[in-house]
Amino acid sequence: MDFRNRVFLAPLTKGGNLPFRRLCLKHGCVVTMGEMAYAYQVVKKSRSELALLRKHDDETCFGAQIAAMRIDDAVKAGAEAVDRGASWVDLNCGCPIHDIIKRRMGATLLRKPRKLARLVAGMVEGLSVPVTVKIRLGWSEDEQNASEVARVCEEAGAQAVFVHGRTKDQRYSRAADWDAIGQIASERTIPVIGNGDLLTWYEVKDRWQQSGVASVMLGRGALIKPWIFREITEQKAWEPTAKERLGVYHDFSVKLKEHFRDDEKGRERTMRFLPWHLDFFCRYRPFSDEKWVASAKEHPLMQTRMPSEEGLSLLEQLLRDPRKEVHARIAELLWDAADVDEAEASALALAAEMPPEAGAAGEIATAHG
Ligand SMILES: Cc1cc2nc3c(=O)[nH]c(=O)nc-3n(C[C@H](O)[C@H](O)[C@H](O)COP(=O)(O)O)c2cc1C
Repeated sequence: MDFRNRVFLAPLTKGGNLPFRRLCLKHGCVVTMGEMAYAYQVVKKSRSELALLRKHDDETCFGAQIAAMRIDDAVKAGAEAVDRGASWVDLNCGCPIHDIIKRRMGATLLRKPRKLARLVAGMVEGLSVPVTVKIRLGWSEDEQNASEVARVCEEAGAQAVFVHGRTKDQRYSRAADWDAIGQIASERTIPVIGNGDLLTWYEVKDRWQQSGVASVMLGRGALIKPWIFREITEQKAWEPTAKERLGVYHDFSVKLKEHFRDDEKGRERTMRFLPWHLDFFCRYRPFSDEKWVASAKEHPLMQTRMPSEEGLSLLEQLLRDPRKEVHARIAELLWDAADVDEAEASALALAAEMPPEAGAAGEIATAHG
């Protein structure tokens, strides 16, 4: 596994499900990562947790991510991932959610570099594949120790470090600090992979070059625009029409159907995911490079970008509608439609039934996390 010159799909709880990863592969993604799995639950053979370690045959370069605080659990869970074909195992060292913090995992490990070093060394010794660590800049603005954390990870044998350029307390309220990411990259011998606010191919190019990171990782950019991977390879934007986007979403619903099966139970399970994804898909805006290169520098935070909303087609307005009830209906029609033409006809009927609310489509809501 080479961690240099790569564009990684970030580990994304719920979003990084297997059908979504297949969708990204179809649109040029090569290196995927699974959703975070609790190591202690994997050790207990929890079926839902083991499912998070599963990869598709088409995923030839797949990293499993685990949350752990004990070496024994981390090694056993990592071995389960390796048995299922993981090319490497990543330790989560940045998750800010309460349940993880309470269990002294995730971002808590940022505050315990010595403990983290022992954990990483244990994983390196016990696993047959490379071990990586995904970190944030620190616990809070006053407690930024990512340089030290990255150093101890390298010394403990980690083969790469992913750096999300925000602190645990910042969540998504600040733009990712790419100077700090670049600083860490310059201090390390192992590859440092930069992550945060990469929404377009030109931001990827600029951030990558300017920060000197070995590779980059994308989270919400992929959730909004699964075809961003091809844009990065081709160094040019694909600005799909509303119908072309509907086609991508329909293809995703087909992949969900293949995964969960084409029956009532499969439909029910799909409806736990597809409306959730539409909440990201609806944030798509064509930030074409001619118009946006300069303002992307001023507004790296996605929630502060506002392209013009005038003259949009009805289908376009529907796909931008942020209402949950609309997402639920679009998900249903995607599942029911045999092809994109049928999906378009149903979507237009839906738009007539639930006209997009004035102003509602203008917002790019703050993302999760
Ligand atoms: C819905 C969602 C789920 C996430 N789940 C995980 C996770 O399971 N493990 C992890 O390390 N980071 C997780 N993250 C953080 C991302 O991997 C990434 O570090 C963060 O979103 C910053 O990248 P971005 O600005 O490209 O989105 C999640 C982020 C989002 C939006």
